[in-house]
Amino acid sequence: MLVSFSEAVDLLNQGRIVAIPTETVYGLAARIDRPHAIESIFVTKGRPRKNPLIVHVYSLEDARHLVQIDAPHTQELIDAFWPGSLTLILKLRQPIDSAITAGLDSVAIRCPSHPLCRQLLQEVGPLVAPSANPSGRPSPSMAQHVLDDYDGAVSVLDGGRCAKGVESTIIACNSVTGRWDLARLGAISPDLLEKILGYIPTLYNCGDTPICPGQKWQHYSPKAKLLPWHPGLMAPTTTILGFSDRVYEGFDLRYYLGRSTEPQECLQNLYSCLRQLDKQGIALAAVDIGFPRIGLARTLAERLEKAIGGAAEVIIEAPTV
Ligand code: TXA
Ligand code: MG
Repeated sequence: MLVSFSEAVDLLNQGRIVAIPTETVYGLAARIDRPHAIESIFVTKGRPRKNPLIVHVYSLEDARHLVQIDAPHTQELIDAFWPGSLTLILKLRQPIDSAITAGLDSVAIRCPSHPLCRQLLQEVGPLVAPSANPSGRPSPSMAQHVLDDYDGAVSVLDGGRCAKGVESTIIACNSVTGRWDLARLGAISPDLLEKILGYIPTLYNCGDTPICPGQKWQHYSPKAKLLPWHPGLMAPTTTILGFSDRVYEGFDLRYYLGRSTEPQECLQNLYSCLRQLDKQGIALAAVDIGFPRIGLARTLAERLEKAIGGAAEVIIEAPTV
């Protein structure tokens, strides 16, 4: 059910979970010092215990209590991107609840920019919050999505439609190379990090042990089966998920993410569109993945390919020309 701001504060302080808005997606939040609530996040989402959680803080000051800010460029990255949609994996200053870190000696931490979320963090302190969807399903970018996912059984603080619509970008400093690697593509284009780092971080993956454990599980999938499709191919089915500035012949039903030239617009609509397919009982749809993987469009491509399935380990590199 929907709850007011003061109800959300009370629930979190009492050790309950609340779905909260962020500028990326809605998160299922608990205070970092409420182990039963943290346990309840894993149970509610059906989340594997080996998948660690992101800590959300109000300020750098709050972050300093939890993590070391000593890896190269950490302070500059924080100055440039916080509050905002960049998650840093940083070494812990002192041990925290191992349910949060899945036993790792580092923690993923970010400082969201959503005003209501910031107000909440200021009032109740740091919160862990994975995306509020049941594990494997498309993330929620509206309060209604969370109500739909749990039949209203989860308390939700409504902060409107998420401005970014896709999860934060996660980076980690590689202790061997001293360089930051991309652990997850997200709302911040890796190109923007070049200004601070002097290089564009690349996706890091070493076989079965990606630096971001969550990347190895199935993600973002609607119930509908999705088929990758490129303009010029025959229509393999009657429904297409594509772009509003393209003409799709041979399809009866068209779902538009937005303009193919505007990846941010498409990302904002992405999870609503995937959810819409299921709401309307679409069993099979083609997905237009015929677009260049540049900037934020890399995130769009990665999420679409994961929604299609089977591409969870595929690394999409930027074009070399
Ligand atoms: O935008 C977001 O990041 C949203 C909102 C709610 O803040 N949260 C989110 O959380 O996407 P979640 O749990 O759905 O994804 C977090 C990812 C997982 O893939 C997890 O494996 C990874 O971050 N992660 C968390 N802690 C980590 C750590 N210490 N080391 C490596 N990866 C970590
Ligand atoms: Mg998630």
